[in-house]
Amino acid sequence: MSKNAPIGAFDSGVGGLSILLEVRRLLPAENLIYLADSAHCPYGIKPVEEIRQRSLEVTDFLISQRVKLVVVACNSACVAGLDQVRAKFRNVPVVGVEPAIKPAHELTRNGKIGVLATNLTLNGERFSILVEKYATGVEVYTQPGPGLVEIVESGAIETPETERLLRQYLQPLLDKGIDTLVLGCTHYPFLIPVARKICGPGVTILDTGLAVAKQTARVLKLANLMTERTAPGQETFYTSGDPTAVADVVRKLWGDPQIQVKKANV
Ligand code: DGL
Repeated sequence: MSKNAPIGAFDSGVGGLSILLEVRRLLPAENLIYLADSAHCPYGIKPVEEIRQRSLEVTDFLISQRVKLVVVACNSACVAGLDQVRAKFRNVPVVGVEPAIKPAHELTRNGKIGVLATNLTLNGERFSILVEKYATGVEVYTQPGPGLVEIVESGAIETPETERLLRQYLQPLLDKGIDTLVLGCTHYPFLIPVARKICGPGVTILDTGLAVAKQTARVLKLANLMTERTAPGQETFYTSGDPTAVADVVRKLWGDPQIQVKKANV
């Protein structure tokens, strides 16, 4: 495998960009390939078997683009199929994501943690294992957030409708007295400005972007796969959906009006 090959990442849509932005900051010389599986978005309300199958197909697409590592930048896909992806593609390192329960356990002062995630993630065995393992002695309150992924996909983030829906989901957690909020879906970090406004300064909001970027760097180093190039790396964006519509949102979230998005037949 070539050190100068790109890193691949995917999500049901643009949410995984919250992870990839951190990878870009930490590893500026790496080339990156991102696939938004927009034709099948959202993942979080679909049957586990369907998302497992998509995760395998989309990883196969990234590997056909000769990536040296795959980041499954989606909590729902990790719950549904991370083990299967690792088992099937043994020659490529695979980095997954999970809700930041462990850091939340370390940070909470009053022992009350809220987790906002998709239904698929909250109902998955991976999540119960995570809570059992790391949330000893604290209360964990969970809340699914249907509709939030679609808001991020539309790119219309700071609107009264977003605030209304997010408040509807966060208020029950705030009523429980949480002082730490875990964002267990990679789309949600794009809603942090609105969530901050709702939660106020007393609640710490956690996402996993930086931790996943650091893990990606660690895995590359261990496998001796860090790029040797020093020039800024490039990004290539693909979608299984409509490239024109997806490009509008990717440009906004990535902060680069020049971005082009290609169609992936996957
Ligand atoms: N961003 C994804 C996650 O972390 C997928 C959300 C969805 O498509 O429902 O779960």
